[in-house]
Amino acid sequence: MPDRIEIFDTTLRDGEQSPGASMNEQEKVQMALQLERLGADILEAGFPVASQQEFDGVRKVAGVIKKARVAGLARALPGDIERAAQSIEVAERPVLHTFIATSDIHLKHKLRMSREQVLEAADKAVRLAKSLIGRVEFSAEDSTRSDLEYLAQVVQVAIDAGADVINLPDTVGYTTPDEIYAMFRYVISNAPGSEKVLFSSHNHNDLGLAVANALAAVRAGARQIECTVNGIGERAGNTSLEEVVMAMKTRRDQYPYECGIVTEEITKSSRLLSNITGLVIPYNKPVVGRNAFAHEAGIHQHGLIANRLTYEIMTPESVGRSRSELVLGKHSGRHGLAKRCQELGYDLTEQEISQLYEKFIGLADRKKEVFDDDLRVLIVTTRDESFEVYHLEQVRTTGGDPAMALVKLRKGKQEFVDTATGDGPVDAACMAVDRIAGVNGRLQEFSLRAATPGKDALGEAHVAVEFNGRAYTGTGASTDIIEAATQAYLSALNKHLALRESQATEGKTG
Ligand code: KIV
Ligand code: ZN
Repeated sequence: MPDRIEIFDTTLRDGEQSPGASMNEQEKVQMALQLERLGADILEAGFPVASQQEFDGVRKVAGVIKKARVAGLARALPGDIERAAQSIEVAERPVLHTFIATSDIHLKHKLRMSREQVLEAADKAVRLAKSLIGRVEFSAEDSTRSDLEYLAQVVQVAIDAGADVINLPDTVGYTTPDEIYAMFRYVISNAPGSEKVLFSSHNHNDLGLAVANALAAVRAGARQIECTVNGIGERAGNTSLEEVVMAMKTRRDQYPYECGIVTEEITKSSRLLSNITGLVIPYNKPVVGRNAFAHEAGIHQHGLIANRLTYEIMTPESVGRSRSELVLGKHSGRHGLAKRCQELGYDLTEQEISQLYEKFIGLADRKKEVFDDDLRVLIVTTRDESFEVYHLEQVRTTGGDPAMALVKLRKGKQEFVDTATGDGPVDAACMAVDRIAGVNGRLQEFSLRAATPGKDALGEAHVAVEFNGRAYTGTGASTDIIEAATQAYLSALNKHLALRESQATEGKTG
């Protein structure tokens, strides 16, 4: 029986720390449910002490996830640990993840603690965590730049205090495969009690080695890999879940291990995350990039026709991509649309199908062929609308200096129309939205991309807007880019209004 590798997904915590990737509660839940379908063993849902919003998000995820374990992160401080425990206590299978740095550079400049003090803090943290939650993971932050003998000592203290999982992170993405292999071998052989715990590897990708380092750690005895969908995370990101899993699956001869990932759910997870966060997947990204299975060179195509094995090491189907994209058109009908959504792995309710169908017909009117990626974008924006306060009915703009916009919004049965001028049509449209809603948003980020190839492509807009000092992301899609941008702005505004309303109901401030 091959050894099993636990997949610890930290998309919602370390991944969410990447610039521009912040998710609200509803988005976290949506992503968490998809990660569960993907088969991740553990979902790290956030860092609860960071803010009330973060705490609420983790608690919500902990409440809806039934199969996977749900982890909450805490520094090795009593306040952090108690807060994390409160947020995950509702989970079926909670994990308290506590960490402290062990490298001299961190001890001296960040923690200002001696090695002895860190040993004591690790001991106390794990003991407290263990008294509150049944399963505890301990991470020795910056392990790969720590003195090996001291690292083994810290690990021994954490094991003695009751840790179930020991994680040795490459926090700054500095190590190499040979070095991380040696580190795991050393610690596993020199920390008494190491046979009682599960060793975990958490790598950052600053030198592009995160996946290779994770695989080397597994060879050395680690049985848990911490990773994120699309490799998102601090700076250059974390170990990419889809890459490390497909490397193990494709090269089973080299990595004879099993894991619970349903690889057919990879593409859907990757697209969903990109749609939620607006973080674009590079075209050449392994496994999930648009070109990952595209063979351009004639000689390759010739070989593929003769036998796919000539140039194909894994099949697109194995990661949930279809070899030939089914193109839908106006006449495909509601049934055809529902069937294609199902084939793409989306379980939509009757009501969602109806809303989607309306959008689909609108799009098919403007654009002859509707591709799978168009559908994915429409599905995400349709789901977004279930949280709408204001709905965009119409936006009209004229260029010039200043540009002018007329916006019509609907709130329930009421319609509102206003006009505004601005520095360009997008600015003018956002100003008109602000006037109607009585808010003052500050557009911090704005990006636009084509969801599919072609001049009539569906434009996908992503924004980050600040309302009352807090940033919200929004997504919009239309063949008209001004409409896509206005929808994205409105989706960020709707999140702000929904949060404001829920806080008013709970009697909170902020
Ligand atoms: O990179 C890191 O060291 C971390 C720890 C908190 C596990 O993210
Ligand atoms: Zn990290």
